[in-house]
Amino acid sequence: MMKTLVTKHPLPLLLLLQLLQPLHFCQSYQGISNQDIDEYEEMREEFFGTGPPRPFTKKKFERFYIVEPGRPLYDSEYCRDVIMERNVHFRLKCVTEHYFVLSNFTEMQRICSSVFVPCKNGVRKCKRSRNIISGVYCNFTGGTTMPDCNYDTFERQGFVLVTCRWQNDIQSLIPDSINDIVTPSSE
Ligand SMILES: *[C@@H]1O[C@H](CO)[C@@H](O)[C@H](O)[C@H]1NC(C)=O
Ligand SMILES: *[C@@H]1O[C@H](CO)[C@@H](O)[C@H](O)[C@H]1NC(C)=O
Repeated sequence: MMKTLVTKHPLPLLLLLQLLQPLHFCQSYQGISNQDIDEYEEMREEFFGTGPPRPFTKKKFERFYIVEPGRPLYDSEYCRDVIMERNVHFRLKCVTEHYFVLSNFTEMQRICSSVFVPCKNGVRKCKRSRNIISGVYCNFTGGTTMPDCNYDTFERQGFVLVTCRWQNDIQSLIPDSINDIVTPSSE
């Protein structure tokens, strides 16, 4: 199998494979979480392209962005706790901001079929919900790496801006990230 890869793929993939290999054989390696292994499996799936449609993409979106009712969204520790619990980070570094929405994947996916609107940075790459959705905005306040990341929590009710991407194996647009929750008054 390795032989086929060597002949079929250019160098960067080989380097990546070399980097990924140790994970495969040492899944309990200290500091590597189950989520990192999920991401690794997802990446593997993308390269080797066999098997069923990638379930991790949906799972990852849900893990990153979707919350269930229960804990009050105004709770000042909400962001800090949930970001840690969901293991939201960028290569173990704290993310500078983040959103959680009280919604579900189906509702977020439906937004993807609407027209493009400007994202927070002005680029017309986002889709906007038609309904007002509850969520929280998390703004980084301190720390450097997981799990020592601190955030302010701001409850928000508004139109959710999502970015979407095309997933070939299921031939549909799927939500990729939450870009903003725009309160109607600030539109
Ligand atoms: C998803 O959320 C929408 C809007 O709140 C709701 O109508 C729908 O029943 C939910 N679907 C699932 C599968 O929970
Ligand atoms: C988030 O935090 C940064 C840095 O402290 C600040 O400049 C920014 O205004 C905050 N954003 C919001 C929406 O509160």
